[in-house]
Amino acid sequence: QNIEGKTAFVTGGASGIGLGIAKALLGAGMNVVIADIRDDHLAEAGEELGSPDRVLALKLDITDRDAYAKAADEAQARFGNIHILVNNAGVGVVGPTELATYADWDWLMNVNLGGVINGIVTVLPRMVAHGEGGHIVSTASMSGVMPHPGATIYVTTKGAVVSMMESMRGELEGRGIICSAFCPGAVATNIQKSQETRPADLSDTGYGQADKRRQQAGDMSHLFQTKEEVGQRVLRGILADELYILTHSEFRPGIEDRAAAMVAAVPDLPENEEYKATFAMLFRN
Ligand code: NAI
Repeated sequence: QNIEGKTAFVTGGASGIGLGIAKALLGAGMNVVIADIRDDHLAEAGEELGSPDRVLALKLDITDRDAYAKAADEAQARFGNIHILVNNAGVGVVGPTELATYADWDWLMNVNLGGVINGIVTVLPRMVAHGEGGHIVSTASMSGVMPHPGATIYVTTKGAVVSMMESMRGELEGRGIICSAFCPGAVATNIQKSQETRPADLSDTGYGQADKRRQQAGDMSHLFQTKEEVGQRVLRGILADELYILTHSEFRPGIEDRAAAMVAAVPDLPENEEYKATFAMLFRN
């Protein structure tokens, strides 16, 4: 796949993983739009990225559907068609499930899942219409593919994103649009500042502050990958059309256990051939 000279739209592109991805795509010769809710991150990222002729920094709250469409218009006005959409902006707060209020659920669902939905509704029809092929990468997490007790809301959003990419891939690849679920492990970013962009009407409830486990684990930052490492990983995943883009080998046992448990749960019943044929047509089996 030749991406040089084409255009990428990266949400949450002004910090952390999104900025790492923006850097990698810029290095591969793309035009890159970074769309982010934070002015300070946008200003810092602009400095870090340089290349003003191939970078467009846009302020965007991905939960605002009208603003998303305007941002896509602006991107197209500057660079033409969008070929790569990176649904990356997200917030991370974890806590005990019984303390999670509707405000906590709504905030995380609106950004981490709603933002991806808004990206797809806004950009996918444009990608299909221009017919030049495309790629949609959505940043989920290892929390989207294996159990992460104490992070119920977060895993709900990330699991949904993985399922979206898996199913959309089967639907769209015949039309030259590839979908990938990016599932990183821990990366050094600003995600700990997530609460700062929480909307006032979904104000803090104490859910996140009650997360004692994470606090007791202390500083783990020396174990984290860098944004540049994961940015390069995503670039390789895009170039190789990978469905799952993973960053950490340490999660192999968890992935194997989950897959094995699912296989073991398949009932040992005689198979109905008509059922099999019908559903093989509808599902990807
Ligand atoms: P980050 O906080 O450094 O970057 C996220 C960016 O998204 C920030 O610049 C923030 O301003 C922006 N953002 C937040 N809400 C937004 C909104 N409503 N509209 C537009 N922009 C918004 O954090 P990080 O870690 O780089 O997060 C990126 C993605 O990676 C998230 O989806 C996160 O869930 C995911 N992730 C992060 C991991 C990590 O260890 N840091 C691990 C697995 C997944």
